[in-house]
Amino acid sequence: MTDGPAPVLEARGISKGFPGVLALDGVSFRLAAGEVHALVGENGAGKSTLIKVLTGVHQPDRGELRLHGGQVSFGTPLEAQRAGISTIYQEVNLVPQMSVAHNLLLGREPRGRLGVIDASRLNALAADLVAGMGLRLDVRRPLRSLGMGAQQMVALARAVSIDARVVIMDEPTSALEPREVDTLFGVISDLRAQGIAVVYVSHRLEELYRICDRVTVLRDGRVAHTGPLGELERVKLIALMLGRDTTDVRLRGQTEFAGRHTAKNGQPVVEARALSRRHQLHDVSIRVRPGEVVGLGGLLGAGRSETAKAIAGALPFDGGAVVVAGHPVRKGSPSAAIRAGASLLPEDRKAEGIVPTMSVRDNIALAALPRLSRAGIVSEAKLDRVVATLMSRLRIKATSPHQKVSELSGGNQQKVLLARSLATGAKVLLLDEPTRGIDVGAKAEVQALIDELAAEGLGVLLISSDLEELVEGSDRVVVLRDGAVVGELSGDEVTEEAIMNAIAEGGGVDG
Ligand SMILES: Nc1ncnc2c1ncn2[C@@H]1O[C@H](COP(=O)(O)OP(=O)(O)OP(=O)(O)O)[C@@H](O)[C@H]1O
Ligand SMILES: [Mg+2]
Repeated sequence: MTDGPAPVLEARGISKGFPGVLALDGVSFRLAAGEVHALVGENGAGKSTLIKVLTGVHQPDRGELRLHGGQVSFGTPLEAQRAGISTIYQEVNLVPQMSVAHNLLLGREPRGRLGVIDASRLNALAADLVAGMGLRLDVRRPLRSLGMGAQQMVALARAVSIDARVVIMDEPTSALEPREVDTLFGVISDLRAQGIAVVYVSHRLEELYRICDRVTVLRDGRVAHTGPLGELERVKLIALMLGRDTTDVRLRGQTEFAGRHTAKNGQPVVEARALSRRHQLHDVSIRVRPGEVVGLGGLLGAGRSETAKAIAGALPFDGGAVVVAGHPVRKGSPSAAIRAGASLLPEDRKAEGIVPTMSVRDNIALAALPRLSRAGIVSEAKLDRVVATLMSRLRIKATSPHQKVSELSGGNQQKVLLARSLATGAKVLLLDEPTRGIDVGAKAEVQALIDELAAEGLGVLLISSDLEELVEGSDRVVVLRDGAVVGELSGDEVTEEAIMNAIAEGGGVDG
């Protein structure tokens, strides 16, 4: 029995273990030319590990790889790249301090006669690549000066510009806005038309159904299913990922949010008054009352993350004031904001959040220590209880609370940071993309948890580029554009269409 045409790339019986966990257990995977193959599974299922084995980052303990029918082994990612496999890893692995142009053409820089990099040709080539992706940006800028979405587009431009037969994308859209996702899908269609094979990892199921031909489901390091995607119902796909019966997977709305919350009266838990920051924020005023979930709508660069950061003391502002639970907070002081009761889940978890060398437990406890300690003495028992509760609620997959956080899968690292902001005992949570990179099962958990916290009287400021999540989770949505508030919707007015209109018109909410 064969399935489909001869594979371009094939993995046979691959196993890969790490201390305490068998990440891949006899995995076989076939990738055909011109197909877009979805690779799915829960956080920690083994997706990134499989990709790292296919691309020479990890050496398998057992099994073999075949490329164009012949056995191969890649000692390094560069060897895989030279063999025609181009990869965008889940963690953007470019060099932040170098220019966009340098990053795009790293290792392939045009050189002059003396072997010196020809900067003007480099910049011109890079500008072409960037324009081909429909991006408008100055390629001489350092990569780190760009937002997450733009950085991810640069990683994409780099991956598709390498002359490859196989392109592997590990959660490429997690920081992209809808327009950029459309650009990406256009690029993927072109690749497929050229007979290039694409592996696509994403937790966003609707994307998979838009772009993928076949699917392989991993569960606990094993292949739970492989076959054409079109014939596989969505409930069935989720059931396969979670290892449950289809009858146990109820399909409610897309999200797990129960509905509107009842905001308590009384003083707002957080109030931003006319926040201004040069070129970024213009008179942004927002209030969140206890028990209320306020969504922040807008496109990339609209000032959503900047607003949340300014409130949390993580970004200085030139004018305005922040009041948390009645206490004015000194600007630019994250510790003052935390003491007053505001906790931020940052968008760029890698740069601003996770401490890779520390354990899961210590990462969770980091911001909660002042609360859990008395006269500077931390109650270890109390800390262990808080950590254990959060780890089980968020279903954090780790060998123990003492495992180094860098050894966790991408989605599980995100959950650790979410656990950290929940552990602070905050009065207001500022959640910047709380479910990004988190699998379907845990996403539902996180959304239910947000609901629960609001019901307990916490205020939540929710930023999500998943419009559905924003609409179903928020009682009110404040829409930003170019750093200014351009609309506010509440109650039944909160619909995807109304948000899109407010963004497009930028003049108000009516119309
Ligand atoms: N370097 C490592 N050291 C120890 N354990 C690791 C390492 N890399 C991955 N693991 C473990 O291997 C398992 C599979 O992780 P992997 O990153 O492949 O998951 P994933 O399917 O990509 O999940 P996610 O959706 O969260 O990105 C997890 O239990 C993870 O903790
Ligand atoms: Mg992963």
